[in-house]
Amino acid sequence: MKRLTVHAASRTYPILVGRDVLEELGPAVRRLRGEGQIVVMCDDNVAPLYLERARRSLVSAGLRVSQVILPAGEREKSLARAEELYGVLYDRGVRRTDTVVALGGGVIGDLAGFVAATFQRGAGFVQVPTTLLAQVDASVGGKVAVDFRAGKNYVGTFYQPSLVLADLRTLETLPDRELRCGAAEVAKHGLLAGSAVLRRVRQLARSPLGAAAVTQELVASSIAYKASVVERDEREAGLRAVLNFGHTIGHAIEAATGFRRFSHGEAVGLGLHAALRLSSELCRLPETDEEDGHELLDRLGLPDRLTGVRAEEVCELVSRDKKAGQDGVGYVLLRRPGFPVLGVRVPPALELEVVEWLRKR
Ligand code: NAD
Ligand code: GLY
Repeated sequence: MKRLTVHAASRTYPILVGRDVLEELGPAVRRLRGEGQIVVMCDDNVAPLYLERARRSLVSAGLRVSQVILPAGEREKSLARAEELYGVLYDRGVRRTDTVVALGGGVIGDLAGFVAATFQRGAGFVQVPTTLLAQVDASVGGKVAVDFRAGKNYVGTFYQPSLVLADLRTLETLPDRELRCGAAEVAKHGLLAGSAVLRRVRQLARSPLGAAAVTQELVASSIAYKASVVERDEREAGLRAVLNFGHTIGHAIEAATGFRRFSHGEAVGLGLHAALRLSSELCRLPETDEEDGHELLDRLGLPDRLTGVRAEEVCELVSRDKKAGQDGVGYVLLRRPGFPVLGVRVPPALELEVVEWLRKR
């Protein structure tokens, strides 16, 4: 087991990573949160797989445990569902000293975290991420939110958990497509961090993508990179925006294809290809690094080509990105792996050319 510590401005907390660390849940929560009651929130895919183990560990530590099981899916990240969950916590007499445990992927983490952050201005919150994406990204750094109308993560706040516990064994039941979503974020962290993280992502890409190939070192180093960014800029005043690398065009592709043709991770994979191409054009990323990056993404099984949408539609959606300022979107690009550049303006003709290139790769 690997133990990391995040020193965010608002809270310092441990992250435990390893195979079978779910057994540590009860003792760790008891140590960090005392004797209060626990409400585990999870979805109906995760409940039959891991709820009993989580409960057993918490109950054995002498904690009073109840649970809420929600339907799986992004639609659950709504204010209506959050309100229903406030009702559940109210009826169960939950107080600030009690703890909400999010057991599941990023949807459950974001929703349960939002509810924990706002119920009585902040109940206890623990993340037990069970997807690769949630382990390396969503559970770390305290962004919690629900979607509002067409706006993804439109209503939310920053609320760091007291503990993150990432059990790699849970990845064994994860569908391949979900594993690829996580692989895209791991590749993003590797390219942004360079050095050891990138080396481990290359190692992952050498074997067929599967839970067995996901090592404790890979997940821990990817988390450590994200934590290092959050520690320097918890509330995204500047630096934290590097984590949008590959997401500008990635999000536009997701939206332009109706959130169906490509999963989030697959769209981010395409966005990363585009960002590498733009980095070479605008930030002098060496050709060998660009080629290495494309090869890495291909080896991870991410799509190599944009299909089913016109380049103009993608560019139109980029210009409507919620992070766009008065003078357009500031891209995150790379000078070298490990050396991101923030806020790069991309001439519209070049943006269109690169999205066209994605269609023809
Ligand atoms: P998800 O939570 O929907 O999980 C994906 C699917 O896998 C679901 O069907 C779920 O039931 C299932 N599942 C989860 N764990 C499983 C397991 N171990 N075995 C089998 N099935 C399992 O999706 P996700 O990709 O984990 O997260 C996406 C969400 O995370 C989005 O809402 C996104 O906005 C959010 N997100 C948040 C942050 C952040 O910083 N807060 C960062 C990235 C993404
Ligand atoms: N996933 C982007 C962030 O946490 O800032």
